[in-house]
Amino acid sequence: MALTEELAALRTETLAAIEQAADSTALEQVRIGVLGKSGTLTGYLRSMGSVPKEERAAVGKAANEVRVAIEGALEARKAELSAAELAAKIDASAVDVTLPGRAQQIGTRHLISRITDEVAEIFLGIGYTVATGPEVETDYYNFEALNAPADHPSRGLADTFYVRDLSGDVATVRGESDVLLRTQTSGVQVHAMEDQELPIFVIAPGKVYRRDVADPSHLPQFTQVEGLVVDKGITFGDLKGTLDYFCKQMFGPERKTRFRAHYFPFTEPSAEVDVSCGICHGEGCRFCKGTGWLEILGCGMVDPNVLSMSGIDPEEYSGFAFGMGVERIACLKYNVPDLRMLLEGDMRFLRQF
Ligand code: DAH
Repeated sequence: MALTEELAALRTETLAAIEQAADSTALEQVRIGVLGKSGTLTGYLRSMGSVPKEERAAVGKAANEVRVAIEGALEARKAELSAAELAAKIDASAVDVTLPGRAQQIGTRHLISRITDEVAEIFLGIGYTVATGPEVETDYYNFEALNAPADHPSRGLADTFYVRDLSGDVATVRGESDVLLRTQTSGVQVHAMEDQELPIFVIAPGKVYRRDVADPSHLPQFTQVEGLVVDKGITFGDLKGTLDYFCKQMFGPERKTRFRAHYFPFTEPSAEVDVSCGICHGEGCRFCKGTGWLEILGCGMVDPNVLSMSGIDPEEYSGFAFGMGVERIACLKYNVPDLRMLLEGDMRFLRQF
């Protein structure tokens, strides 16, 4: 075959290969095979010296035309392929703006905080203010000033977490440090009586600590709300009316209350308050252990000793006090059978409220 025919065949063959190259890698292979260092056309161009003189001009011209045609075709196919590849890339990474977004879970306040606030709101609504006291308390405020001196049987030393003072200068009560984690919010009563002007109408929500093992009705750390009223002419009738109002606000107007005589060292007389069972309405069921009643708080008239220890004249002033456990109220309100469920962080449970 004459050289020019060979070149024409190479041209046809190469243009077809260029057309068929499916992507830019395949196209590059075609280019290297033809125009690369040891490419077929490069071979022809290099061997021009051995072509007989009289043919050289014609063959050279033909070879050059083939080169220009192939280069042009490569260029065009390359542009085509890269446009297609870019389009495919854009397609693959496209964002579907019509897809619905991922919903954010909105957090809520914990049930214990909400019930604490609800209790506070009920009393704020009838003119009380909020008082606070320290969680690390002294023996004096937690026991002594509440009419429970060191040898008082109500102290139950086994219930109290004592704080050890490592400075070496340790004051002790019955061999224990006189600094402790408060076991009740009742100590805030003493702070309020020492610090505030009379009359006093306060509630004191806060955490308390006891050396109990957690079980359905006990927690080693829980929340109480304390209440204290001191004024001239305060009677047990005021106490009953106030707490009956509180229970109806908290649990519903159809709920009844009853006051049972009880004992607390800092009140005299003392009582426990029960609210009628919200499940059986007094008939008796498993939730109220068949009694029809649920115990919700302790209360009483402030003992005259407690008033005088805090510098208030019991001849002139009288008062009442009460204290309740928030976790217990939350469980009674929502019929939760085990206090621990409030603290387990199970969102399926907590989201119900
Ligand atoms: N501090 C008591 C307790 O932890 C609750 C209590 C009872 C508080 C009677 C009071 C009260 O203020 O008057 O069990």
